[in-house]
Amino acid sequence: MNIKIKIPNNDDIHQIVKIHKLFFKEGLISSFPDELVFKIYRDIANSTDSFCYVTVDGNTVVGYVSGAKDFNQFLKKFILKNLFKMLPYLLTRIFEKSFLLRCLNILTHSKEKVEGSDIKAELLSIAVLTEYQGQGIAKELFNSLCQSFYKEKIDKFKILVGSSLSESIIFYEKVGAVKVFESEWHNNESAWIFVKNTD
Ligand SMILES: CC(C)(COP(=O)(O)OP(=O)(O)OC[C@H]1O[C@@H](n2cnc3c(N)ncnc32)[C@H](O)[C@@H]1OP(=O)(O)O)[C@@H](O)C(=O)NCCC(=O)NCCS
Repeated sequence: MNIKIKIPNNDDIHQIVKIHKLFFKEGLISSFPDELVFKIYRDIANSTDSFCYVTVDGNTVVGYVSGAKDFNQFLKKFILKNLFKMLPYLLTRIFEKSFLLRCLNILTHSKEKVEGSDIKAELLSIAVLTEYQGQGIAKELFNSLCQSFYKEKIDKFKILVGSSLSESIIFYEKVGAVKVFESEWHNNESAWIFVKNTD
């Protein structure tokens, strides 16, 4: 095994798209076509406002993490840049209640005035292929993101995680993130806002 962390190239980003869709099936981004999800991750990896790292075993991406220095700015820029590409997919789903709720979540989350909402930096997503879990890969990816924020003089970042995702919650607690607020999500679900200091 030749496992290492690196910044993803285009081939790695295609693999990130597959991993994202595998683990985050219910999320809004998974409802977009692969080409658009690829663009999202390529923007994250190439922008100076965000970070993306992959763990590869040879040429296979086995895990990744992404984060933005300013989630609101990131979201605004992305929507402005890609609105026309997103529109056909948004329009086909506009009458679905669950879809509207998801959009509302994203918008209200980005404007939330609750504890932790003053923190701009955010972990966007992290995932490790099942067969590679439990080997410290996510911890290393998480720490790489943490260091990148630190180098940019960002002293803390937040993480939003569904309250029902007990295994992810254990993971975030293990890597030193602290629960600061439980916010309303949707369909009677709530989400925890975690905060992690970068030093
Ligand atoms: C959560 C996830 C990223 C963890 O990846 P991982 O590579 O297995 O995690 P690590 O091996 O680095 O574990 C780091 C620590 O968290 C603990 N941990 C990780 N997953 C755990 C689980 N399911 N149950 C209990 N503890 C867990 C480990 O025991 C380890 O603790 P230690 O430092 O005391 O040894 C992975 O399970 C995953 O990809 N899940 C699906 C996607 C997901 O839910 N992402 C988070 C969305 S909010």
